[in-house]
Amino acid sequence: QLAGPLLAVESSCDETACALIAPDGSVLAQRLVSQDAHAEFGGVVPEIAARAHLALLPDLARRTLQDANLAPADVAAVAASVGPGLIGGLVVGTNFAKGLAIALGKPFIAVNHIEAHALSARLPGVVEGGATFPFLLLLASGGHCQCLAVEGVGRYRRLGGTIDDAAGEAFDKVAKMLGLGWPGGPALEKLANEGDPKAFALPRPLKGREGCDFSFSGLKTAIARQIAPYGSEPLPRTVAADLAASFQQAVSDVVADRVSNALAMMDGPTLLVAAGGVAANKTLRARLTEVAERHGLRFAAPPLALCTDNAVMVGWAALETCAEAARLGLPALDDMQFRP
Ligand code: KG4
Ligand code: ZN
Repeated sequence: QLAGPLLAVESSCDETACALIAPDGSVLAQRLVSQDAHAEFGGVVPEIAARAHLALLPDLARRTLQDANLAPADVAAVAASVGPGLIGGLVVGTNFAKGLAIALGKPFIAVNHIEAHALSARLPGVVEGGATFPFLLLLASGGHCQCLAVEGVGRYRRLGGTIDDAAGEAFDKVAKMLGLGWPGGPALEKLANEGDPKAFALPRPLKGREGCDFSFSGLKTAIARQIAPYGSEPLPRTVAADLAASFQQAVSDVVADRVSNALAMMDGPTLLVAAGGVAANKTLRARLTEVAERHGLRFAAPPLALCTDNAVMVGWAALETCAEAARLGLPALDDMQFRP
């Protein structure tokens, strides 16, 4: 087991984050910057993201240590998301963390970003009564949309995923068509509250099909077709609201259907967990709660700050990996992880 706190770094997309986690999983301090330089481009620009991580990380790490009244030498190990994600940011965060580990003479722990999302539900206090294996994770963000059977630490089965856009990407693109800012998900949900979800009969891509793959590009095209007659005129607000509500309903219907199939593909799941920015959507959450209940399961979504990219989940996944290695009687951390 780790003899002291672990410093975790996250830099796979446009969140720059550091967290200090005690060996028992309690969060000693955390700092996160959601880079705002991307808004004017309507999406994350990888090169800008990588440079921003580079500019932000040293000070962010220093401040995180200060927040916890710790000196760098108090850190027992350093962990970082090493992928998947945007390569520039990953290179920056991973090398920053490795460099720090080398300088401190402490182990470096590589964390898979998806694994960090998958295990975030097991952080102490996140799910009432704890998230025991196996559970189903729906990961739906701007970059990911997949169903993952989480069977144990290091034991994951991808049951299905998107064959085109990620769910968040679809929200963002449709929001853009409706004249909303970026990121579009939250703005679209707000506008949808004013609209009628039955106003437009939109398609339900892959609904009723076997398996749990997702597809959202047809929905996007259907919205574009509804908007086309307005040409360059601004879309009347009521029409935009009805389209937003109808789109949100269609996505929720599809996701509920796919997740229901995913649960049926698992052997005795104990829980349904949703993570990623899209898991913030209330209509979707309500549908997923229904699906879970139909399968006799609970539904849980970590609080939004843990649902979206963050360093706490990275640190937690590193701790879980160490604990699992110890359980399996594998060599101690010092011998099995990267060392200078
Ligand atoms: O997990 P996240 O913060 O970042 C990554 O993409 O990794 O997810 C961001 C995505 C964006 O596409 C955003 O539009 C979407 O999550 N999102 C939402 C909502 N809040 C964020 N989509 C639908 N409804 C929301 N309330
Ligand atoms: Zn993520």
